[in-house]
Amino acid sequence: MSKKVLILSGSPRKGGNSDILCDQFMQGGKDGGNEVEKIFIRDKKINYCIACYACRGTGKCAYKDDMAEVLEKMIAADVIVMSSPVYFYSLDAQMKTLIDRTVARYTEITDKELYFIITAADTSIPMMQRTIECFRGFVDCLNGAQEKGIVYGVGAWNLGEIEGTKAVQEAYEMGKNV
Ligand SMILES: Cc1cc2nc3c(=O)[nH]c(=O)nc-3n(C[C@H](O)[C@H](O)[C@H](O)COP(=O)(O)O)c2cc1C
Repeated sequence: MSKKVLILSGSPRKGGNSDILCDQFMQGGKDGGNEVEKIFIRDKKINYCIACYACRGTGKCAYKDDMAEVLEKMIAADVIVMSSPVYFYSLDAQMKTLIDRTVARYTEITDKELYFIITAADTSIPMMQRTIECFRGFVDCLNGAQEKGIVYGVGAWNLGEIEGTKAVQEAYEMGKNV
């Protein structure tokens, strides 16, 4: 059955290592017959949540920026792929800002299948767990969410260094099998 797949690419550098893995996941997803869209978060205007709680009871954020459209797509998707480079063993600012802004409507992001893609200079998978836990903290707040897979793009520091590593094939295969 064809699924609606939304990829949230969080790297600030287009064509960066995690963005390359997102593209591989996207290609795999399309080859598997799914409807796939990638959002490069940095291209969007997404302000920081300022905890004004205008959204409480209304589901409407005080900001009129691109997050409304991103939220619509997250709510409509069957599968959400969240991708970030590892920054100080946490998520980067683009991804965290997006997560915080879901506060207006996160209760409507239900029954999703979630995949995580991370990239890091470090080669240690155990060291990646703190970053994965950041994603899990968010996903644990979503009703009916199921974590389905993780691509660890480790050992890549410079732009494009992920090419030729096994993470590239893993991302493709994971996308193909959503
Ligand atoms: C601000 C900053 C913090 C970083 N922190 C870490 C880190 O804690 N551990 C690590 O292994 N790599 C760290 N890196 C390296 C990136 O994770 C690595 O270059 C990654 O491949 C970037 O992914 P991208 O090309 O998708 O942006 C950091 C890079 C930057 C710019």
